[in-house]
Amino acid sequence: MKVTYYGHACFLVETQGKKLLFDPFISGNPLLQETATKIDIDTIEADYILVSHGHSDHVLDVEAIAKRTGALIIGVWEVVGWFGAKDIKGHPMNTGGEWAFDFGKVKLVNAIHSSSFPDGSYGANPVGFVVSNDEGCFYHSGDTALTLDMQLLPLICPKLDFAILSIGNNFTMSYTDAIIAAEFIDCAKIIGCHYDTFGYIKIDHAAAEKAFSDAGKELILLPIGESRDL
Ligand code: NI
Ligand code: MN
Repeated sequence: MKVTYYGHACFLVETQGKKLLFDPFISGNPLLQETATKIDIDTIEADYILVSHGHSDHVLDVEAIAKRTGALIIGVWEVVGWFGAKDIKGHPMNTGGEWAFDFGKVKLVNAIHSSSFPDGSYGANPVGFVVSNDEGCFYHSGDTALTLDMQLLPLICPKLDFAILSIGNNFTMSYTDAIIAAEFIDCAKIIGCHYDTFGYIKIDHAAAEKAFSDAGKELILLPIGESRDL
């Protein structure tokens, strides 16, 4: 699977010939306005857009990308309904459910957070995603606190090859809590997300990477725009 980081919680995962885009928040990402790195939302390709919850730092660019590409939204009922009212098609699910798509299975798992849309609409419960197919299995935590529910993943999902975990603290798990999460989900290869974007979630990269390696795990902090085969 090829994983490309577009900043904050947004990743593009290419697998089984399909492009899965998670939580696109690109045009409003302050880090992308400060640096030379440019990510053009008008050129991003997607077959599916997986939306973890309704907060603007996860949905800002969904409408533009979905309308241009025709990508199908995957999320909880209320999230798919909110985009459906904008004539964007989706596949509604809810926490605990799994569906076999043409690229593999997606299971929605619990996330401890809040969720409402930028217009104040109810966003229902936030979720994380477990995606699995013949190429592998990974988990994107979405925005979440550390939760004991993560201990269920090894019982209900294939062995994880890697996981994308929120590590920025303040709004989600800190990286120290994410080390415990990595234990709970039985995964040693972690890609960090939801850090550095805003002042509240700036982290010390070297300290975070050392804390993971001291725990026998790898923390990958991808520069925005970079890809990794996992
Ligand atoms: Ni959020
Ligand atoms: Mn967020």
